[in-house]
Amino acid sequence: RNSQIETLERKNAEALLGGGQDRIEAQHKKGKLTARERIHLLMDENSFEEIGKFVMHRSKDFGLDKQYYLGDGVVTGYGTINGRLVYVFSQDFTVLGGSLSETHAEKIVKIMELAMKNGAPVIGLNDSGGARIQEGVVSLGGYADIFYRNTLASGVIPQISAIMGPCAGGAVYSPAITDFIMMVEDTSYMFVTGPNVVKTVTHENVTSEELGGASTHSTKSGVTHFSCANEVECINYIKTLLSYIPQNCEELPPSIPYEEKADETRAVLDTIIPENPNQPYDMREVIEGIIDADSFFEVHKNFGENIVVGFARLGGRSIGIVGNQPAVLAGVLDINASTKAARFVRFCDSFNVPLLVLEDVPGFLPGTDQEWRGIITNGAKLLYAFCEATVPRITVITRKAYGGAYDVMNSKHIGADMNYAWPTAEIAVMGAQGAAEIIFKREIAEAEDPAAKLAEKVQEYKDKFATPYRAAHRGFIDEVIMPNETRAKLIKAFKMLENKAVTLPRKKHGNIPL
Ligand code: COA
Repeated sequence: RNSQIETLERKNAEALLGGGQDRIEAQHKKGKLTARERIHLLMDENSFEEIGKFVMHRSKDFGLDKQYYLGDGVVTGYGTINGRLVYVFSQDFTVLGGSLSETHAEKIVKIMELAMKNGAPVIGLNDSGGARIQEGVVSLGGYADIFYRNTLASGVIPQISAIMGPCAGGAVYSPAITDFIMMVEDTSYMFVTGPNVVKTVTHENVTSEELGGASTHSTKSGVTHFSCANEVECINYIKTLLSYIPQNCEELPPSIPYEEKADETRAVLDTIIPENPNQPYDMREVIEGIIDADSFFEVHKNFGENIVVGFARLGGRSIGIVGNQPAVLAGVLDINASTKAARFVRFCDSFNVPLLVLEDVPGFLPGTDQEWRGIITNGAKLLYAFCEATVPRITVITRKAYGGAYDVMNSKHIGADMNYAWPTAEIAVMGAQGAAEIIFKREIAEAEDPAAKLAEKVQEYKDKFATPYRAAHRGFIDEVIMPNETRAKLIKAFKMLENKAVTLPRKKHGNIPL
């Protein structure tokens, strides 16, 4: 064999070792996999093709002229997941802490551009000490090159970020622009400024985990959509997520062949709504009762829990579900619930995933906290997101639909295609108690027995408005249906809507209230 072939073999072997065996072991000791091991788990067997394996940095400052690693701290390429093309970059913490150099950024940009041209998702596995400090502004330029492509790709191809180690400073903004973030518990964190700077500036003592770990970002800030117990779970979540969404904005989501059964009745749905309208129930039970068995993939599970969002299959088709959650804060809309649902609705609309809304909402959350933090602007995000969505949109009102929240939650008036109500629906401006107190104020005050009068007027208002029939008389509700027939109705209606085509007025882009 000639020596050139041996040289190639040697270089290939060297590239596979990244920062060397010792650093690989250090990575494993932290409970983390290497960049290549992660790719191996993510991609279909033998499908990964690497691009730029021998790329090296061009820096000479601060001793970098003595530290060259083939690949420069990121493994990039393409392959398949369940037979579908994806592009991936996986940062290699064993090489200079996975720090982002000019060339490291160029490799990421290269696969992002290929993904854009070829219409396939980009998956970023992030594990990096941030900008390569020795390179200065050149490295910052690299980040900006990535942010710019992230933004251009937004709404064109799905972008998924897994955070599997540090992700700090400017590095956070690429994941932030992508569609979904997944974080691994205990071994990953994200923050704009770390605990040391925080201590200096605000005198707060906080650990990395408290400041920006998976649990913080999945519950408090909502920055991450998924908190994963370990790296394997994280990678499995990526695969599951991809199974519900298309390759790009021009395609439909994949569907699973589904044989329509003679009987799609689900008797369990008749038993979920409690007798007492003030009693909570779990909207997830309604979801499970409607969708194909075990197909619900919940997004943002532990954030803004008064609304539930996620992907599911209905008759084999992929749908996005937004449901008020009466089990948490009676299912009110607040700032977190509104922004969470708005972002989900916009993702689904960008990528042709039809929307199902399950509505049981008593209104918006009152209080100075909400008003001063801008429930007006934030609630408007959800309203705007529904208004501009052109995918098939169906609403089922299971119980309450009160006030402005009735309009917001995918009402007929803002472009929903089919609106159903269960017989338990209450569609009105406000709850009967409050309504009676206002409109019969004088009558009640002047009555011999004000309490009895109030009760009488409450009942009167309830009988008139706390039903779906006024709305159905107007055609705001297309049909009042038995809960048990909901699944069958929805399968048919989504099928009926499958060729829906709506064009929005021509514009550069809208101006969603941010
Ligand atoms: N630029 C260049 N090299 C970096 C780097 C960076 N941003 N971040 C880490 N490294 C190098 C370290 O020098 C170290 O090199 P070595 O293996 O030759 O000793 C290696 O990566 C591993 O880093 P280490 O600090 O030993 O790992 P750790 O797990 O203990 O800590 C961090 C990880 C990310 C917390 C720590 O490296 C850090 O604070 N890095 C700087 C973060 C930063 O401020 N980035 C710039 C702003 S965007």
